[in-house]
Amino acid sequence: MNRRKSVLITGVNGLLGAWVYSDFLRNGWNVTGLVRRKIENFPVPLEVLPNWDEPSLFSLLDNFEPDVVVHTAAMSSTSEAEINPGITHHANTEIPKILAAVTGRLSIRLVHCSTDLVFDGLEGNYSETDQVNPQHTYGKTKTEAEFLIPGLNPDHLIFRLALMAGFSWDGNHGFLDSFRKSLESGKPQPAFTDEFRTAIPVSVASNLISESVNHQTEPGLYHLASDEKLNRYEMACILSEKLGFSTELIIPAKLESFTGKPVRQPDVSMNNQKLKRALGISEIPGVSSEETIRKIVF
Ligand SMILES: NC(=O)c1ccc[n+]([C@@H]2O[C@H](COP(=O)([O-])OP(=O)(O)OC[C@H]3O[C@@H](n4cnc5c(N)ncnc54)[C@H](OP(=O)(O)O)[C@@H]3O)[C@@H](O)[C@H]2O)c1
Repeated sequence: MNRRKSVLITGVNGLLGAWVYSDFLRNGWNVTGLVRRKIENFPVPLEVLPNWDEPSLFSLLDNFEPDVVVHTAAMSSTSEAEINPGITHHANTEIPKILAAVTGRLSIRLVHCSTDLVFDGLEGNYSETDQVNPQHTYGKTKTEAEFLIPGLNPDHLIFRLALMAGFSWDGNHGFLDSFRKSLESGKPQPAFTDEFRTAIPVSVASNLISESVNHQTEPGLYHLASDEKLNRYEMACILSEKLGFSTELIIPAKLESFTGKPVRQPDVSMNNQKLKRALGISEIPGVSSEETIRKIVF
């Protein structure tokens, strides 16, 4: 009798991790979620591992023997990364390096999540062979991990994710959750007309990750972005209408007015042809699709 395939997913209490968890469960996989601390009210049991050092991760994976590890955990906030570069380097470079080494030794496929912010955003429509040029701590630490993983585990899938739009399981992760809260408070929302993204609904990103694993996709680096290139203002207006608010609160702004940290990248839109070819699909929906406001089901 065939045994059920098994997957270990890190960061399952985050935005993407919970969706990936729910997709693999629905597809009949044996799923283990890995977190670093106990999560109150998470609807399915989790494995808690406080220290993600090499011996602890080796012993956990040697014991669980998953077919695949999907690594979504990361320091994902660009502003927090700037304030805490040491913690960010550990989360975004050291942990992926350890996971790649351990999964490589145990012959386990590793799926790793990277970002469109490895690019400087001066050109846009980036493909996988284009030169990276990260501009801040978050981008640099994610870029370093991309370079290290292939040498440690040849059986890897690295997805450079575009900005993800969607609701998280607890309403406290990702920009759609905070965008909705701001609209509810009636606060005007400045949105840049000259900052472009190929943003993707989180449910679509999650589904394409699990499909890539099911399809035994060739190892390598893939851009996981939608077909829809929008500026932040267009995106905010679409999302505001979808959430049932007037667009009057969305105020057009220019990037030159931004005074925060770190610097923003004007156009990190990505070309998704390589992934489409690998999966034999013709379209990848963007934020204007109904997927954006779909709710997660465990
Ligand atoms: N969200 C986006 O738009 C976007 C766009 C491009 C790429 N990405 C990438 O996609 C992946 C998923 O992003 P997300 O938005 O789902 O992230 P998220 O909602 O911020 O969740 C991050 C997860 O990582 C865990 N984590 C953080 N630091 C950790 C550490 N040092 N050790 C162990 N666990 C740690 C968090 O656990 P705690 O609750 O314990 O902190 C949480 O479970 C990340 O690799 C991110 O860089 C995201």
